[in-house]
Amino acid sequence: MPNEIKMDPILVDIPMPIQTPRLVIRNVMPGDGAQVQAIKEETWDILKKWMPWTAHGTGSISETEKVARENYAKFILRTDMMMVAHTLAPTPEQELIACTGLHNLDWDVRSFSIGYWVRASAHNKGYASEIANALTRFAFGALNARRLIISAATENTASRRVIEKLGFDLESLSAYDSVLPDGSMSGTATYVRYNTDNLPPLDVTWGV
Ligand SMILES: CC(C)(COP(=O)(O)OP(=O)(O)OC[C@H]1O[C@@H](n2cnc3c(N)ncnc32)[C@H](O)[C@@H]1OP(=O)(O)O)[C@@H](O)C(=O)NCCC(=O)NCCS
Repeated sequence: MPNEIKMDPILVDIPMPIQTPRLVIRNVMPGDGAQVQAIKEETWDILKKWMPWTAHGTGSISETEKVARENYAKFILRTDMMMVAHTLAPTPEQELIACTGLHNLDWDVRSFSIGYWVRASAHNKGYASEIANALTRFAFGALNARRLIISAATENTASRRVIEKLGFDLESLSAYDSVLPDGSMSGTATYVRYNTDNLPPLDVTWGV
């Protein structure tokens, strides 16, 4: 890819929302705190196995609203891209399915990493795969990514299955380099993509 003129990341256009066959994915906004808190509590038993931020406890609606507002600001500053994924159809109303996003933003390299967690009642319905597929297309198609990473604890077999189904290549496998929320040691499986070649087909649009 030819060198691009270096620009201040705050001037990068990030077209929202991203739409998939079942979901609308958008940056987190003020007002999202209560819904995020509800699905966080629903999913707590599994989240606390894998997500480092659970070490701070479930928190309250107002604490989660604070996180939503801080991350709304980070999105505008282009320092992080926390997103939420809702169902498309209002049945009876849009249901919040997952928290996700692009993180570890390196605008010079155009390297990003994908993170995700799905509410417990929606597990094993293909939502994480749909979200990560969409964010992969979005990163390369809308943000001119050169490198896209997804990392998972080595024992997190459900997450690793999602990543491997999407055709990411295993870049590194470390034995013990992180501490899980329960204090036990874990390794990290880091997967990478440099393009969307052979990504499972998915209709994804953004900015519409
Ligand atoms: C990992 C997680 C996001 C997966 O979400 P999901 O929407 O259920 O994922 P999908 O339905 O797209 O795919 C899950 C795949 O893992 C498989 N799977 C589920 N549990 C598994 C387990 N314990 N061991 C191995 N595979 C498992 C499913 O069968 C499915 O594969 P398949 O399509 O071949 O049948 C979800 O379990 C979660 O939120 N976990 C807690 C947070 C977390 O670990 N986030 C990732 C941090 S890297």
